[in-house]
Amino acid sequence: MSRRLGVLISGRGSNLQSILDAIARGDLQATIAVVIANKPAAAGLMRARDAGVPTACLTQKDYASREAYDAALAGVLRAHDVDLVCLAGFMRLVGAPLLDAFPNRILNIHPSLLPAFPGLDAQRQALEHGVKIAGATVHLVTSELDGGPIVLQAAVPVLPGDTVETLSARILVEEHRIYPQAIGLVLDQAWQVDGRRFVTPPAA
Ligand code: GRF
Repeated sequence: MSRRLGVLISGRGSNLQSILDAIARGDLQATIAVVIANKPAAAGLMRARDAGVPTACLTQKDYASREAYDAALAGVLRAHDVDLVCLAGFMRLVGAPLLDAFPNRILNIHPSLLPAFPGLDAQRQALEHGVKIAGATVHLVTSELDGGPIVLQAAVPVLPGDTVETLSARILVEEHRIYPQAIGLVLDQAWQVDGRRFVTPPAA
């Protein structure tokens, strides 16, 4: 697999930053070929520009349908020779044109221990449910929302008195640690998808 990443964002881009930082430190051997936002105001676009990474912004309103939008995303990613797509706070469902263009080559980070609490406001869902352990998951993207094969997870405690903000901040530290690690794993290791499992060979 080539080591050219495309990162898709909608907002502040702290996970994008963690990938940029891991590359800059030499912990992740990869290049971010392009950062694409679906909102012109996405603060992460500035982080990409500061790092000298090409950016693009594609807004849904410029496209007649979701399919046309996803096909346009795939076109920009292909034009930048991207081989692995990383969703980093990209607040859209990914449709067939993009999934088909990058089969098993799209990663997402989600702020819960999936399959618990998919969808929006995962940290709030976890607090309201009363779980004692929360966390973050990196998974391959499929047509099922937050439901693809799990690549890496990290757990954090839920502490008495936690708010959505304090729990989110604790989870975010782990997100920033495991996302670059998961990207490295997908790029460097032998792996396959077996049913709904992401499988790596046992250590020799
Ligand atoms: C993160 O919590 C990520 O898990 C979720 O959206 C948030 C994005 O944050 N998918 P950032 O834009 O990377 O700072």
